[in-house]
Amino acid sequence: MMKVSRRAFSKGCVIAASGLAIGDATQAWAQIEGEKYKVGKKHPVPSIQDTETPAEKNARLQWFREARFGMFVHWGLYSIPAGRWDGKEVPGIGEWIMNRASIPVADYKALAPKFNPTQFNAEEIVGLAKSAGMKYIVITAKHHDGFAMFESKADPFNIVDATPFKRDPMKELAAECRKQDMKLGFYYSQDQDWTAPGGAAYKTGDHKPPTFHWDPAQDGNYAEYLRKKSIPQMRELLTNYGDFPVIVWFDTPTKDMTPELAGEVVKLLNEHPKLIWNNRLGGDYSGDTETPEQYIPAQGYPGRDWESCMTMNDTWGYKQDDKNFKSTETLLRNLIDIASKGGNYLLNIGPMQTGEVPVEEVERLREVGKWLAVNGESIYATQPTLFGAEAGAFSATEKDKEGKPKFVPSWKWRSTTKSNEVYIHLFEWPGSTFHLDKMPRNVTGAYLLSDNAKTPLKVTKSGGGLDIALPGQMPDPIATVLVLTTA
Ligand code: GLC
Repeated sequence: MMKVSRRAFSKGCVIAASGLAIGDATQAWAQIEGEKYKVGKKHPVPSIQDTETPAEKNARLQWFREARFGMFVHWGLYSIPAGRWDGKEVPGIGEWIMNRASIPVADYKALAPKFNPTQFNAEEIVGLAKSAGMKYIVITAKHHDGFAMFESKADPFNIVDATPFKRDPMKELAAECRKQDMKLGFYYSQDQDWTAPGGAAYKTGDHKPPTFHWDPAQDGNYAEYLRKKSIPQMRELLTNYGDFPVIVWFDTPTKDMTPELAGEVVKLLNEHPKLIWNNRLGGDYSGDTETPEQYIPAQGYPGRDWESCMTMNDTWGYKQDDKNFKSTETLLRNLIDIASKGGNYLLNIGPMQTGEVPVEEVERLREVGKWLAVNGESIYATQPTLFGAEAGAFSATEKDKEGKPKFVPSWKWRSTTKSNEVYIHLFEWPGSTFHLDKMPRNVTGAYLLSDNAKTPLKVTKSGGGLDIALPGQMPDPIATVLVLTTA
């Protein structure tokens, strides 16, 4: 049996916990509960990551590493209450409403006959991702509420059998993704399930240990739940949608997911050797990707693939009262910051009960897409910065929540790299020249990416550094990209 590096994974958690918080309204469950993700010494069932060669891994992850930008979609029955229950706003993220408001199973299940999202349009959603410059979509096929947003023979609590809508949005999305050259992944809550007997629940409020259930209808045996509902549904998702999903996005494992039970899931995953899956399966498996939630790690995860998932406001699932949307400037600079550290940005939308996407989200995505249409070359398929210090520095005096030196980001510029180019994303116009103290490559020329004529900018070398003469005005106030050609 393979040995799995404990260092690689637990180190990931440490970095994650000291990471840079950006708009941190919802803290990362994964990272708070980091303990659960520790890598054990042995896997009862070796996973693809244990057995493949580095070359095989590179081939498997290539598209993901080049993609840099994906769309997360949180959509389910929770879009009906949209953050309010019994006339009151329920604090916290929208898709957690059942748990946060201790809604009995029968009452929550009664939402299904009311779910009729006739405005859902797969062509439009995939088109929106496309126009935003996103390369893949990950959608909640089943969230913690246990409701399957796909046709399922394994469990009747699903969108085809339990709603008047009767359509399978996953099928429609898969068809559209194929048409529009978009990749599709499925989020599946393999462990928490609040409407199926035996499904797990995270602790909330006064819910009692050891199960943290709030309704006897939730009680049961977890292994039985996993074998009867979770694994069969994952099998459906992995076999009924052709070449999709390319990603399975697990979430919130608990102690219930022992290495042995996770091994049963891994057996199924191993039947799909192109699949990419994240670090949230549980049972000591570290998967392919680190998943920092609602923040960008200070220095990325050298040696690990990663994806920062973030909301545009403060909720994943739609909440009618949450209008706290980040600006296009913040979203775009987050994308650039992430690319400069070698990660992907999985940016969320939360469609409404009608199936429509909130207009604030559509607007922002279109704006990000406009920038990418001009500057995408500096984001997709790039390597991280050659510099690093531009991202910010650890404070000598200030401490973070864990008592470690706090990372203080700087927002002047970022950089990405290709074999013959260094891209500098300027957030502030430095005046008539941009100066670099050190330049590890030989620069042969410079121009602005938004300048179709590629008008050469004057490069002056001095010692190991250089200066590039800039025009008087900053062409794009959010981020102007300077290209340095290198030999
Ligand atoms: C969390 C939440 C969940 C959300 C996810 C996205 O773990 O439980 O509601 O889907 O993060 O990363």
